Amino acid sequence: MARTAFACSACGHQSAKWHGRCPGCGEWNTLVEERTGPPSARPRNRASALRPVPLGQVEAPALRRLLTGVGELDRVLGGGLVPGSLVLLGGSPGIGKSTITTGALANLTAAGHKALYVSGEESAAQVKLRAERLGERALSIPIVAETDLDAVVATLEAVRPDVCVVDSVQTLHSNALSSVAGSVAQVREVADRLVAAAKRRDIAIVLVGHVTKDGALAGPRVLEHLVDCVLQLEGERERSYRTLRALKNRFGSTNEVGVFEMRDTGLVEVADPSSRFVAEATTAPGSVVLCAMEGSRPLLVEVQALVAPTQVVPPRRISNGIDRNRLSLVLAVLARHARLNLGSSDVFVSVAGGVRVEEPGADLAVALAVASAARGVSVTNGTRPLAAFGEIGLTGELRFVPHAERRLAEASKFGLAPVLSPTDSCRSLRAALESVLAGAAGGRAPPRAA
Ligand code: TYD
Ligand code: MG
Repeated sequence: MARTAFACSACGHQSAKWHGRCPGCGEWNTLVEERTGPPSARPRNRASALRPVPLGQVEAPALRRLLTGVGELDRVLGGGLVPGSLVLLGGSPGIGKSTITTGALANLTAAGHKALYVSGEESAAQVKLRAERLGERALSIPIVAETDLDAVVATLEAVRPDVCVVDSVQTLHSNALSSVAGSVAQVREVADRLVAAAKRRDIAIVLVGHVTKDGALAGPRVLEHLVDCVLQLEGERERSYRTLRALKNRFGSTNEVGVFEMRDTGLVEVADPSSRFVAEATTAPGSVVLCAMEGSRPLLVEVQALVAPTQVVPPRRISNGIDRNRLSLVLAVLARHARLNLGSSDVFVSVAGGVRVEEPGADLAVALAVASAARGVSVTNGTRPLAAFGEIGLTGELRFVPHAERRLAEASKFGLAPVLSPTDSCRSLRAALESVLAGAAGGRAPPRAA
């Protein structure tokens, strides 16, 4: 007998009744009806007690890894794909998910591994067109264009590949369920069956999943619990840089970030992103180089600000690559503690290259860029762009941030020392601003960081 249940398309919470507001995550209108089959008649066996083992005596087999040959992807995965595991690769449409997975399969095939590309989204001919741009070796990837889950699982059992890409998880559907492909029930069923197949045959499976800006699509959120690793490919479609982050990783850290550039020949790894961004940085008013940390790796990026008078009330605050709330905080501190009132100006702040920086260490660079733009005065380090980092507190103080030495070392490497950062002699935003804005006018160098 089929039962009716309701599942939240945002968090996957299940409920016997429909609610306007999900009891799990509090979102409105996210519960959708799904039909579940009869509960499986599992034979009841009387369980015998288990014997607990000290963790030290647990046998942990060394993880085998399949290197995708895409260095940045391997690094973010924690050293390559793990056989028998499921990786979810999320990202908005057109960001380059199919491109990166095709590139990885091309390398794996060339290295002698058995690969399989399951395309539910595009026809085999469309995938071929992309592969042609990626080069000769991509053309030897075995492909099936299929959306029927049973057929895909049967193919996995018959072919027994080492690695399989399913592009995308939202396009597969199981005939056992009446709901449409991409619905919560379908996506969960697809993932369950694929997890089972992956474990049974020791296949590393990469599930590609679309996420819209507001996370509206059902699939990926529900999947996060089921898979071993969640990767997110981010960037702005119009810009060429893409970042790859691990949001969850059972086999590695979630700190690593890979940087790629979209070129005619596919996604190319940017092994040394700092040099790219520093070379592009200007010394014009409103530009400051931020010594950021992307996971465990220091990264120099250019922060740009534009301040323009406006009649619009409230004035616009537009930020790209920086959290908007963080920008509001910086503007409030600038107004309160540095007498820089921008109440009748639009403020635009953006991190060049389309990179996202999500750490409080960016505050000082943002404040300097805005102040520099507002005054129309460049803040520089001689003829080089000024580099800075540091958190700004609510009382206008500068706060220390982690990994100061690594940030300083990265800046030195590119000839940007000395760096403006919180030091014992420079503890307030005001002192920092005075040192550089006076420095710009009088040619004094910024205070040397400790
Ligand atoms: P795609 O991998 O199809 O994105 P997704 O699978 O995430 O939807 O690639 C998206 C864009 O990348 C597409 O607009 C074209 C562009 N592109 C390149 O610029 N160079 C290339 O070599 C390839 C294959 C794609
Ligand atoms: Mg695609």
